[in-house]
Amino acid sequence: MSVVETVISGVGSYLPERVVTNHDLAKKIDTSDEWIRSRSGIGERHFAAEGELTSDLAVNAAWRALDQAGLKPRDIELIIVATVTPDNTFPSTAVYVQQKLGVPNGIAFDVSAACAGFLYGVNVAHNFISTGQVKHALVIGAEKLSCFLDWNDRATCVLFGDGAGAVVLSAEPAPTAAAPRGILATYLSADGRLAPHLYADGGPASTGTVGLVRMNGKEVFRNAVEQISNAVFEVTERAKVARSEIDWFVPHQANIRIIESCAKRLELDMDRVIVTIDKHANTSSASIPLALDAGIRDGRIKRGQLLVFAALGGGLAWGSALVRF
Ligand code: UT7
Repeated sequence: MSVVETVISGVGSYLPERVVTNHDLAKKIDTSDEWIRSRSGIGERHFAAEGELTSDLAVNAAWRALDQAGLKPRDIELIIVATVTPDNTFPSTAVYVQQKLGVPNGIAFDVSAACAGFLYGVNVAHNFISTGQVKHALVIGAEKLSCFLDWNDRATCVLFGDGAGAVVLSAEPAPTAAAPRGILATYLSADGRLAPHLYADGGPASTGTVGLVRMNGKEVFRNAVEQISNAVFEVTERAKVARSEIDWFVPHQANIRIIESCAKRLELDMDRVIVTIDKHANTSSASIPLALDAGIRDGRIKRGQLLVFAALGGGLAWGSALVRF
């Protein structure tokens, strides 16, 4: 058993100012508010301003998480940014975040696991903390997906938005008597055979361009329902926790129908599920920390409660984490 626990000591998020409604999109492409809402649950999304970079979104979320944790940038020894929309191909967006926050040194890198990226980042940071390499880590999911959409593909472009969410993970001594806190179990998986279902059709080594998002919605939908619920089964089994003990399911926000189908399979009432898809749309790696922050700030999620996060996205890659907040 680990002598330290990895606790979430701070949470923060940031959405760019500009709100784009379904009605706004319907003026530009052949779609309707009715179709988007009924097929996905999305009502509006935020788009970054011209010149506002993924690292800027990430930094805004990070300041809020640091503030909640009562920490200064110099306390952070590890920064992981989960993103598929980095400022530049290299270096990592994490080093720009490091520089903009004024973190003097430490480890900084990005993880690329699309919508599961935040959970991949949390898992990696947890390992750094459990092995005693760092005491405080920032894990940020940040995306500027608006720069990445094909406005001629109406089945995909209406689904995404920009935003960022961050957590500070901190090492705390594990008390021998008390019930464990922090990250209780994690699970990650990927299946590269399914990559053609969700990808960007470009990159430095293939086309020399950034590419645009391509998605086989039906296949991704089917896999999402199956693997997100399986991922929750995995972590509850690993932690030997009954699903009835879960206070809040905080899923990746891709489609309300996926979320509802998962909740049904998991036998969780929708009033124990945090849903932000109507206001945020799909923000890929940012969606779970954005939803977590929304649930904390409106008073639903409280310290001591049992939370489960789960996501699936491009890769296909998926995962989950069970956390005593
Ligand atoms: O974060 C990564 C994970 N991503 C996901 O999990 C997304 C998973 N997939 C989905 O959420 C859904 O598959 C979609 C929302 C993308 C699509 O929903 P669907 O129920 O699978 O719809 P569909 O693709 O079968 O499209 C149905 C109809 C088609 O018309 P016909 O051929 O039936 O006449 C489309 O042309 O809806 C049409 N359509 C639209 N109509 C108005 C497609 N996009 C639009 C649109 N507005 N934006």
